[in-house]
Amino acid sequence: MSDATTTKATGGLLGWVDARFPLTKMWNEHIAEYYAPKNFNFWYYFGSLALIVLVNQLLTGIWLTMNYNPSAEGAFASVEYIMRDVEWGWLIRYMHSTGASAFFVVVYLHMFRALMYGSYQKPRELIWIFGMMIYLLLMAEAFMGYLLPWGQMSFWGAQVIISLFGAIPGVGEQLALWIRGDYNISGVTLNRFFALHVVALPLALVGLVVFHILALHEVGSNNPDGVDIKKNKDSSGKPKDGIPFHPYYTVKDTFGLGVFLIFFAAVVFFAPEMGGLFLEPPNFEPANPLQTPEHIAPVWYFTAFYSILRAVPDKFGGVVLMGLAIFMLFLLPWIDRGKVRSIRYRGLGHKVALGLFAAAFVFLSYLGLKAPSDIIVGFTVTLWAQIWTVVYFGFFVFLYVYTAFGFERTKPVPERVTD
Ligand code: HEM
Repeated sequence: MSDATTTKATGGLLGWVDARFPLTKMWNEHIAEYYAPKNFNFWYYFGSLALIVLVNQLLTGIWLTMNYNPSAEGAFASVEYIMRDVEWGWLIRYMHSTGASAFFVVVYLHMFRALMYGSYQKPRELIWIFGMMIYLLLMAEAFMGYLLPWGQMSFWGAQVIISLFGAIPGVGEQLALWIRGDYNISGVTLNRFFALHVVALPLALVGLVVFHILALHEVGSNNPDGVDIKKNKDSSGKPKDGIPFHPYYTVKDTFGLGVFLIFFAAVVFFAPEMGGLFLEPPNFEPANPLQTPEHIAPVWYFTAFYSILRAVPDKFGGVVLMGLAIFMLFLLPWIDRGKVRSIRYRGLGHKVALGLFAAAFVFLSYLGLKAPSDIIVGFTVTLWAQIWTVVYFGFFVFLYVYTAFGFERTKPVPERVTD
């Protein structure tokens, strides 16, 4: 392991490059001499996995674009062509469609880790804010990508979501028209969604991910104990509980990647539709503006918010509440006034509340896949959605009251990491 932080190669090609570009300096600063806490656990795999899935989406997306035709007349047929005639086209497409769902699985687990260990708290507020901006963009990216195959669900899903903007008093209709670029979803809409999906949003996403990691490396990673490892340094100034990211975590993350790829490949090769959850059956029929599918539901990763939307009888009220559900997450670093980061040392109330919050998200996601009038254990889906929506928002209210007014009884946080 090189010792001096300023190590610079002096000879050979690397030396030539280093004299002109900070290659070794960047490698050291962000990888070889980035000291990460030594107690990272299972939950810390998902950041690097999110990066890998992002790269998968970018690469498979570029190759799909080579044979995709972004027009109302040609889109559906070009996807069929990719699936049947383009060599390995089916694999590229399934890697991209499975990758979209995998992205959300990974990001949801990544976010839950931050909730458990208080990684959004001071001084990591900006890491969290950049993360939330990534999450919003990711939703926009997935929504626009879903229109591109120009199937029934692509068309009608976009129709429902864009019409939500129409519910905004005054400017709503104009806004919906501006987004569609037409009085109905048409080839014009498809063209602009294509441009945004393949160029604008990926660029912005990659930029935000860079900011996310720069902010992380500025303050240092949190860990399952929520202990600040920078407080305990050895005589050479290195954190006693830190280990260099490379080789320790590059090796560990490679193991995580291997396990992830087993699951990913299993889905790509054996269940790419995932029983209609990842690729919905109506999307195997071409878009037909004259025939509404029997049951319109967004893809699973949106359904928690869709449930909140449907829980409110008034359309505009639903839109507001859905927006608020996401906005509350942005505010989390300021809602949580707790002095302790990790769930290991927080009060019982917080543990129960976080458990209920996660349950609310899972149940709302499930309910969003059902028709509003379906009956589940004696109640309609709408009533269940209302109950879990209260639990969802209750978490934020409880957390503020519990921490701001001194109700939380925490356990002592150790000086050094524990495992
Ligand atoms: C494209 C999506 C994303 C990528 C590629 C990404 C990447 C990463 C990486 C590589 C790390 C460091 C490793 C780790 O701590 O697991 C990290 C940390 C973190 N991320 Fe993300 N992230 C993404 C999305 C998000 C989202 C949506 C949020 C939350 C809204 C978020 C919140 C955080 C937080 C709070 C940390 C610090 C965790 C800690 O130190 O305990 N990230 N991210």
